Amino acid sequence: MRFENKVVVVTGAAQGIGEAYARALAAEGAAVVVADLNEEAGAKVAASIDEGGGRAIFVRCDVSSAASAEALVEATTEELGGIDHLVNNAAIYGDMEFNLLITVDWDYYRRFMSVNLDGALVMTRAVYPEIAKRGGGAIVNQSSTAAYLYSGFYGLAKAGINSLTQQLAHELGGQRIRVNAIAPGPTDTEATRTQAGDAAQDIVRNSLAIKRMGSVDDMVGALLFLLSDDASWVTGQVLAVDGGQTF
Ligand code: NAI
Repeated sequence: MRFENKVVVVTGAAQGIGEAYARALAAEGAAVVVADLNEEAGAKVAASIDEGGGRAIFVRCDVSSAASAEALVEATTEELGGIDHLVNNAAIYGDMEFNLLITVDWDYYRRFMSVNLDGALVMTRAVYPEIAKRGGGAIVNQSSTAAYLYSGFYGLAKAGINSLTQQLAHELGGQRIRVNAIAPGPTDTEATRTQAGDAAQDIVRNSLAIKRMGSVDDMVGALLFLLSDDASWVTGQVLAVDGGQTF
């Protein structure tokens, strides 16, 4: 029970990797805030954690909105007394066909970046004072191996997440807040099943050392490590959990 008495906010926790993170943290004793735009799925995840003997609440949150992030902090501190850790996992894939930088539609680009890059900063700015009040804690941002490979502005946003992780690690280190990132390789979630399809299978065949897609459970160990005191002197790092896609 590495996270007993800890409160952890996980964005994008209504499904996929974020849901696995929320469930694993609750199983380790944390009170988890399932923060997501999707009210129906998010509330279900929180309820099922509670029914299983864990502690979770759902808070509707749009990570691209500072007002929404502030409201989440207010609701969380009221209900759970504070915040120890933040996991910036929420993102959108957008329309991959539409992902070329060279012909980008500006309205689409700005909306995409406001979630996939700005979202982690918006959430961090709202949440870090609460983490500092508890004497410090950790933040994990969700990057992607796409940061190192061609993938249009999805990759651009994730490269930004890597730099944001390093910049924030410096700015928050003095307040005993560590900031790291996880860069998953292709991972089997509903989103990749519906959106990546054959392309994901090609990546598995052609570029992974371990010849299978990642599972959401493959991601969990890295998250628990980076949030825990086992990583007490680890900050500003991007840990690839990718079946050997990028070495
Ligand atoms: P997903 O699409 O299954 O889940 C994302 C969740 O974020 C959804 O519940 C969605 O409602 C929520 N969300 C979207 N926009 C939001 C917003 N503005 N505010 C709050 N919540 C919002 O995604 P998946 O596959 O679980 O990926 C999770 C993270 O992992 C993302 O950051 C993704 O870029 C990253 N990743 C995923 C990989 C994969 O192969 N599945 C590979 C590398 C990185």
